[in-house]
Amino acid sequence: MITIIGSGKVGGDAALFSALKKLDDQILLLDVAKGLPQGEAMDINHMLSEQGIDVEVKGSNDYEDIRGSNIVVVVAGSARKPGMTRMDLLKINASIVKSVTENIKKYADDSIIIPVSNPLDPMAYITQKVSGFDRSRVFGMGGMLDLSRFRQFIHEATGHSRDSIRGLVIGEHGENMLPLPRFSSVSGIPLSTFLPKEKLDEIVLNTKQVAAKVIELKGATVHAPGNAISAIIETVVRDRKQVIPVSTYLDGEYGHSDVTIGVPVVIGKNGVEKIIELDLNDEERQIFDKGVANVKDAISGIEI
Ligand code: 2OP
Repeated sequence: MITIIGSGKVGGDAALFSALKKLDDQILLLDVAKGLPQGEAMDINHMLSEQGIDVEVKGSNDYEDIRGSNIVVVVAGSARKPGMTRMDLLKINASIVKSVTENIKKYADDSIIIPVSNPLDPMAYITQKVSGFDRSRVFGMGGMLDLSRFRQFIHEATGHSRDSIRGLVIGEHGENMLPLPRFSSVSGIPLSTFLPKEKLDEIVLNTKQVAAKVIELKGATVHAPGNAISAIIETVVRDRKQVIPVSTYLDGEYGHSDVTIGVPVVIGKNGVEKIIELDLNDEERQIFDKGVANVKDAISGIEI
């Protein structure tokens, strides 16, 4: 069973995409708000009925129902409003994520947890610490979402098929996000073959800023995060061994320890099966380290 805790727009979309991809026979939406997960589940089931898909979506307000979950996604908490940074949500979401994680530990202690609430990297850290799970079983969804935006900008700039665009975005899912043109390509051909440095710099900047733009325009980011969640679930349940960026607890990798931040990893049925260390240049390393410092600063102020 796949459980999604938090049944707002992103949680609902994650359930919808996961059901359409038939990632499990059972998907549970859990929320403290009475009626919301039940209504969302009904709406999705009605859609699945027309499509003839035998995945059952259930809504619940009771943590006992998460027993038996293989994967638990945590989207609970407040979302960014126009003008807010992800870090502005730190205090309020820390206590929510802490209590959600305690419940996951109690009722689904052999699950894989995918934190999504913001600020993502500190929330992934709290989840890992409070659950006490092996670090392979806790990884945050942020880089995958940033990558979907980076790929879209590359697609717009080159005109080439989205399918042929490969890339990486690592570091903090926040102000020090690190899109990596040097590790990105169109069908293996370096991006610098297609785009001048000024254009690449513009794409990097736009990738960092575009979530705020979407929030300003429509109030929230919904489909891209919902889809990125289902893409990560898919690589776990189908044991695809995809190389994707997720927020992972570092224990010496990249020269850092006791911090959770976006790095490329191999994801399979056991969660994070390998962390891949890139040889960053000075400029990239500086931004990555700044992100680590920012996350460390945030978690140092939280009682876990
Ligand atoms: C996003 O990047 C707000 O973190 C959220 O869409």
